[in-house]
Amino acid sequence: AIDISKLRGQSGYVTLDLGYKNTGATTSNITFLDGEKGILRYRGYSIEELADKADFLGVSYLLIYGELPNQTQYDKFVHEITHHTMVNEDMRKIFDGFPVNAHPMGVMSSLVSAMSGFYPESYGSNNDKDVDLHIIRLMAKLPTLATWCYKKSQGHPINYPKNKLDYCSNFLHMMFGLPVEDYEINPVVAKALNKLLILHADHEQNCSTSTVRLVGSSQANLYSSISAGISALWGPLHGGANQAVIEMLEAIKADGGGVQKYLDKAKDKEDPFRLMGFGHRVYKNFDPRARIIKKAADEVLEALGIDDPILDIARGLEEAALNDEYFIKRKLYPNVDFYSGIIYRALGIPVNMFTVMFAIGRLPGWIAQWKELREAGQPIGRPRQIYTGPKERPFVDIADR
Ligand code: ACO
Repeated sequence: AIDISKLRGQSGYVTLDLGYKNTGATTSNITFLDGEKGILRYRGYSIEELADKADFLGVSYLLIYGELPNQTQYDKFVHEITHHTMVNEDMRKIFDGFPVNAHPMGVMSSLVSAMSGFYPESYGSNNDKDVDLHIIRLMAKLPTLATWCYKKSQGHPINYPKNKLDYCSNFLHMMFGLPVEDYEINPVVAKALNKLLILHADHEQNCSTSTVRLVGSSQANLYSSISAGISALWGPLHGGANQAVIEMLEAIKADGGGVQKYLDKAKDKEDPFRLMGFGHRVYKNFDPRARIIKKAADEVLEALGIDDPILDIARGLEEAALNDEYFIKRKLYPNVDFYSGIIYRALGIPVNMFTVMFAIGRLPGWIAQWKELREAGQPIGRPRQIYTGPKERPFVDIADR
C-alpha cells in the first residue's frame, strides 16, 4: 500500500500529460484491467465469469463493498433497493418543466443533482452519515428516472415501480408497461439487460469516473458527484459513442450498405469523421466486453427472431477494419459500444436512451470509486498547468481597443 501523505504536496516541476495518458490519479482496489492482454476484473473476478454467473445487483454490491455478498447481505441489499424505487412526487414538477425533446442525459444529470436537495443530510463538509442510504436511493431511483424520460417522449403516463419484480424486469415494466394492459417480461430480454449492465459497471479511471472522483474530492455530496459523472458520460467520445455507433450504421445502410467509403473517411486526417465504437484509450488488443457483447447480440437477435440488417453492416465493418493496415497499425478494435446499441435496439430501447442505459450500468462503479476516494482520505484533486498566454501588459481603455 502506498502512503498517500508521502505523495502529497509535491512542487517544483510540473508534468504535462494532455489527456492524462500516462498519469495515475489514484491507487484503487476496485477494477483491474490490462489493455495489452484484454483483461478486465472487478475486485479480482473476471468480467467473463461475472457476466455469465452473477446478477447486476450482486456485482454492484461487489464493486461498492469489496466482496461478493452472502445470501443474507444480498437479500438485504436487493430488498432495500427494491423498496426505494419510488421517487418523491415533487421531483415530477422539476421533470415536467423539461421540453419533450430534451436529451434524457441532460434530464438525468439535472434530476440526480436535484436529488441532493431532497436529501439535504447528504451535503456539508465530509458528511459521511447515511452514505449507505444515499447509495441505495441512487441505485433504486436512477432506473425510475430513466423511464420517466422515455415515457414522456412517448406521451405516455409514467409507470410506478412494482416491488415484486427484479431490478431488470422492473425497469422493463416501467419502460414498456402501460396502465391498460400488463407487460409480459421476456426472460431473454431481462437476461440480456442484466449482462449489459454488468459489462458497463466499472472501468477504472475513465473520463466519467475520474470526473466523479474529482468532484467528490472537494467533498461534494454523492448526488452532485454522480450528476457530474452523467454529464461526462454523455460526450460522444465516451458513453455517447453507443448512440453515435447506431447513427453511423444507419447512415451506412441509407448509403447502400458499403463500408469501404466510411473506412476511407475515418482514415482521412482532413476529415473529422472517426469510426464510432472503434478504438480505446487502454485496450490495444481487444476489448473483452466487446467480445461478450458481440456473442450476446447474436443470441438476443436469434431468441427474439429479429433480423437486423444493421448487425450485418456492423460485422462487415469490423471485418474490413480488422484487415485494414491503418486500423491494425493503430491497434483500433471494436469497443464495448460497438455492439451494445444493436442489443438495445433489439430490446426496443430508443437510440437517445442508449447512453442512459450505460449510466444505469456504470452507477455502481461511480459509487464505489467515490466511496473509495472518501475512505482513503485523498486530497482535493487540482491539476497544474503550463501557462501559454500573454506576458504582463498594461490595461487598454475601451475607447482605445
Ligand atoms: N477511427 C479512426 N481513427 C481513429 C479512431 C477511430 N475510431 N480512434 C483513434 N483513431 C486514430 C487517431 O486518429 C490517431 O491516429 P494518428 O496516430 O495517426 O494521429 C490514433 O488512432 C490514436 O488515437 P487517439 O485519439 O490518440 O487515441 P485516444 O486514446 O486519445 O482516443 C478514443 C481513444 C477517444 C476512444 C478514440 O479511439 C475514439 O475517438 N474512438 C471513437 C469514439 C468511441 O468509440 N468512443 C467510445 C470509447 S469506449 C467508452 O467510452 C465506453
